[in-house]
Amino acid sequence: MDASSPLKSSPPENLRDRCQTLDLVLQVNGRSRRVVADPRVTLLDALRENLGLTGSKKGCDHGQCGACTVHVDGRRVLSCLTFAAAAEGKHITTIEGLAPQEGDLHPMQQAFMDHDAFQCGYCTPGQIMSAVACVTEGHAETDADIREYMSGNLCRCAAYPNIVDAIKQAKPLMRERDA
Ligand code: FES
Ligand code: FES
Repeated sequence: MDASSPLKSSPPENLRDRCQTLDLVLQVNGRSRRVVADPRVTLLDALRENLGLTGSKKGCDHGQCGACTVHVDGRRVLSCLTFAAAAEGKHITTIEGLAPQEGDLHPMQQAFMDHDAFQCGYCTPGQIMSAVACVTEGHAETDADIREYMSGNLCRCAAYPNIVDAIKQAKPLMRERDA
């Protein structure tokens, strides 16, 4: 094949651009948000870097710490292990969208404050998102249950006992609110 073969020439600029970017609409905290990014972008990076929602934290970026936990269609997911493209068309909730309205706190956020369930706070958004799911998924019946289902969320400040207390406080309030 000679050098002038169309198969050997570079693809047109606009085709290269289309292959290298993904144009998505994500439903985040009740709003449609457009994301134009690399096709391999994770949900965590799309939220933080493209949409400026920095509440979800990047602890390990390998699915080991839980700091990046968000809800997708009401279930907790590790956003560092989820492609943004896989979340298109689903309802994504981050810590920024957890409270029913601006200025209010979700019962779980209030309970974390009441029980000093954090020190540095880095793990806290992920802890709270997991804690809410722990209650809604029905895994908060006993202390042992809570510890088991929160075990994917690490806290270097070791606020674990206070986190269990916070979940126990929030559980009946969440059930009352959702009844
Ligand atoms: S940043 Fe996702 S699990 Fe650690
Ligand atoms: S409060 Fe510091 S890592 Fe959990």
